[in-house]
Amino acid sequence: MLKTTAWCFALILLYAGKTFGQLPAIIEKDGRHALLVDGKPYLILGGQAHNSSGWPGMLPQVWQAVENMHLNTVEIPIYWEQIEAQPGKFDFSLVDTLLQQARAHNVHLVLLWFATWKNGSNHYTPEWMKKDAAKYPNITGLNDKHIDSPSPHSRATLDADIKAFTAVMAYLKQADTQHTVLMVQVENESGSWDSMRDYSPTAQKLFEGNVPAALLKSDVLKALNIPAGAKGTWQQVFGDRADEYFQAWSISSFIGQVAAAGKAVYPLPLYVNAALRDPLTNPHANTYESGGPTDNVIPIWKVAAPAIDLLAPDIYLSGSERVLKVLDLYDRPDNTLFVPEAGLIADNAKYLYEVIARGGIGFSPFGIDDNGHGSTPEELSKRLAPYAQEYAVASPMMRELAQWAFEGKIKAVVEHEDHAEQTIDLGAWQATVSFGSDRENTIKANVVPDGKVMIIQLGDNKFMVMGTDSHITFHTIGKNKGKAWQYLKVEEGSYDNGVFKPLRILNGDETDFGGPRFGNMPKVLQVELIVR
Ligand code: DGJ
Repeated sequence: MLKTTAWCFALILLYAGKTFGQLPAIIEKDGRHALLVDGKPYLILGGQAHNSSGWPGMLPQVWQAVENMHLNTVEIPIYWEQIEAQPGKFDFSLVDTLLQQARAHNVHLVLLWFATWKNGSNHYTPEWMKKDAAKYPNITGLNDKHIDSPSPHSRATLDADIKAFTAVMAYLKQADTQHTVLMVQVENESGSWDSMRDYSPTAQKLFEGNVPAALLKSDVLKALNIPAGAKGTWQQVFGDRADEYFQAWSISSFIGQVAAAGKAVYPLPLYVNAALRDPLTNPHANTYESGGPTDNVIPIWKVAAPAIDLLAPDIYLSGSERVLKVLDLYDRPDNTLFVPEAGLIADNAKYLYEVIARGGIGFSPFGIDDNGHGSTPEELSKRLAPYAQEYAVASPMMRELAQWAFEGKIKAVVEHEDHAEQTIDLGAWQATVSFGSDRENTIKANVVPDGKVMIIQLGDNKFMVMGTDSHITFHTIGKNKGKAWQYLKVEEGSYDNGVFKPLRILNGDETDFGGPRFGNMPKVLQVELIVR
């Protein structure tokens, strides 16, 4: 008996060593991705703290939000100006505080390296850099205009960022052996506003030179809609996109080097976030942040910054057509979908379902904590509620959702502004989702288009369905076409340790009159159908 117990214990330790010692990693299979945490797919049910909330005095509000929202991961900035206030002297006390307090609150962290670029500017570089503008220059706009954006052509800035970021990653390697930190965002919304590129003499000389060979490969040119065989200067190859593409190449090469140096020390997943451009109208970079990882320059970033695992869209656009297009553009076989920021508006919560259905690794509204600006605590908690409700239901089944998402078993629809019904094909069944509340014949449209449904195919006739503000019904298609059918069983319940625990069987008024309904609080239903 004792012997058996000892063996079991040894096996547990061996298993623990194998899994808990594992670094978080992003894997890809058949064009789908997963973030592995402790060796298994993990879904970031996240929230991002405000920009100035990574200070010890502000953290109580962050942990309060974590608790209220049922987050499993907090995204929070770390500041170059604090970490290296004196050149070469590193202070990791705030990083330590974050690690300790996150562990005490049982959440993971995604750290945001606010450094050379923060929303296109250099505002988080240390004072000693700001005081030496000649050594750490900003870019020069047309007609010598001063531009509030660091130059990606400064070797001194690059070396300083590499040194500091490498120190951060080396520190994490030794201070975070339990992997509280899952990923690090390198810089924040890099790019430049008010000038498409640097027009300084140094940059101009590079711009007048030839496009690097790495960008002239036929697959890269094709992805950029340029005919194969093009070569020459930036202007000759890229025409009216030359300024932006040059800026994208310059910034991605810089950030790619920072990332590669940090990763060489401690290979955590690294990503960059994008201030988006309109995804539907192909605008020019004088209307958005030039050179950042916008959808049109993803191929340039992929070539220049291979140490960056993924390019992530910050969702502040509105309208379902636009947002869904953005999700499509960033969900690519070579790019894992992750939404690190979404504006804290009610109907953005629905995109959590779309991200999961596309196999994305996480979602995170921005500004979850009470930072003393803007909204009252009551207003804030009202704005957080749609996310908190979803996370409360999703967190007990987070590992299952992540695994199903990786396996491509999840489909979702979200309500558009026209409130039109939508369909989801599920083998020999088709689900029709209509949005609104009340019964089929007295349906009331949703005021805000926030309805959503996510369906997980568990078997030929068995589905897990989550949703809010909608109805769902089924039809027979494919090999079931034309056959009569009925619900075999519809159960409402929740997940507990990988097992669905029914609360009740829904029947009668709860499944008649147009099928099972979801109110404004999300529910999990296990639905079994049968043909007669
Ligand atoms: C996007 C940035 O990435 C965030 O840091 C923040 O500045 C928000 N915009 C706006 O509050």
